Amino acid sequence: MRQPSIFRHLSLLPALQICLLLTCFLVLLSPGLSASGARFFSAHCADRPRSTATHPQVISRSQMAFSPQNRFSRPTSAQIDLAALRHNLSRIRAFAGTCRILAVVKANAYGHGAVPIAQELVRQGISCFGVSLAEEGVELRQAGITGDIIVLGGAWSDDDEIVLNDLTPFIFTPEHVARLEKAALRTGKTAKAHLKLDTGMSRVGVITDSELDAFIEALKSAPHVVIDGLASHLANSEILTHPENAAQIQRFRQAHAHLEASGIHPKWRHIANSGALLQIDAAHDGQEFNQVRPGIMLYGQAPSSELSPLADLRAVLSWRTSITHLKTIEAGRRVSYNGRWCAPAATRIATIPVGYADGYNRRFGNAAEVLIRGQRAPVVGTVCMDMCMVDVTRIEGVGLGDEVVLLGRQGTQEITAEELAKRIGTIPYEILTSVGARVPRVVVDSEASAIPHRATDSE
Ligand SMILES: Cc1ncc(COP(=O)(O)O)c(C=O)c1O
Repeated sequence: MRQPSIFRHLSLLPALQICLLLTCFLVLLSPGLSASGARFFSAHCADRPRSTATHPQVISRSQMAFSPQNRFSRPTSAQIDLAALRHNLSRIRAFAGTCRILAVVKANAYGHGAVPIAQELVRQGISCFGVSLAEEGVELRQAGITGDIIVLGGAWSDDDEIVLNDLTPFIFTPEHVARLEKAALRTGKTAKAHLKLDTGMSRVGVITDSELDAFIEALKSAPHVVIDGLASHLANSEILTHPENAAQIQRFRQAHAHLEASGIHPKWRHIANSGALLQIDAAHDGQEFNQVRPGIMLYGQAPSSELSPLADLRAVLSWRTSITHLKTIEAGRRVSYNGRWCAPAATRIATIPVGYADGYNRRFGNAAEVLIRGQRAPVVGTVCMDMCMVDVTRIEGVGLGDEVVLLGRQGTQEITAEELAKRIGTIPYEILTSVGARVPRVVVDSEASAIPHRATDSE
């Protein structure tokens, strides 16, 4: 007769008790053992995913040879070319003149991987970085970045962490000053900050003269807070000769003069993002403005197509996968969810392992193209979460495993972030920052024959 289940469990009790006793015995008598057990777990279990799928690696282009299957479970990755980054930096330098460059690496360096990007920029002599969140700054510190790190998004909480990590937040209210002062006292350090002016964005910053006066007043009771910089942000810098740009610069100058007259002398003064760097000389004159804050230019995009011809940049990120399934469908057969594409004739369909969960926008279905064998092929039907389909009928010799470029160059063709953005009515910034976390970033150097450096733990 089967035992009632409770009795079956009771019959296991002695064995369980022995196991429990043995465990307690080992833990109590050997604390070193439990510590090494924890270390073993963190080395062999907790860290494992970081060293494989989602963890950017530094390898040379030849090693990559488009066979990342060895490393990742699918052939989809984003390659980050340090040589292109260096080229773009040299273009930024050509425009920046004597201004210091604050390299904007917020939002994981616009999706490129903040740590490897910042590390390469340090090797190229950059010593000032812009992040949006304190935790992004801490990530850079933990990776050994020692220069100035400006927290552009401001300090919303945990000011101690900001001060302890020598991060420099944008601040703009008396409350921010008081909080930073307290954090400075608690941590025994001086807190550096940049005062943010709202000269026209209506986003964040000191907006009126009376707000500026209140801020100056608050600084009098905050001897441990140093205003190391003065900043503002342009709302129309990517639009050629927009009149509001000059008006914002004028408001900045006035506020700066007022601060100087009050005895506050911000060392770094900046308003120029990529758009201003490309087309507004007054925003990086080396005197009133002695620092610039480019982001998108670093990554090889101009902020608008109008400014693109001035820029001469090279895309840093290319997004690649390969064909994992091929079939021919008959005329009239529909493709993907809701049958939004119908084969007009017998059609060769390639399935590729990338979808909207990777940041390949759902609206690319029936709208975007990819590159295969150096030719353009349309994405047909709705983009699924993890896959999408491409009409490859016109591509001769197409085969399983063929490389598919979603973003980047193949042969003489290139798909740019600007092109993808236009297809769905957005901007290149959104295309780049949308490349999902599960797409491995593989750092390459198209100008180096050898491995330039090994990835650090935090990359
Ligand atoms: C405050 C601030 N500065 C600089 C930048 C960099 O702008 P861009 O990428 O257009 O150069 C940004 C980007 O959004 C920003 O928010």
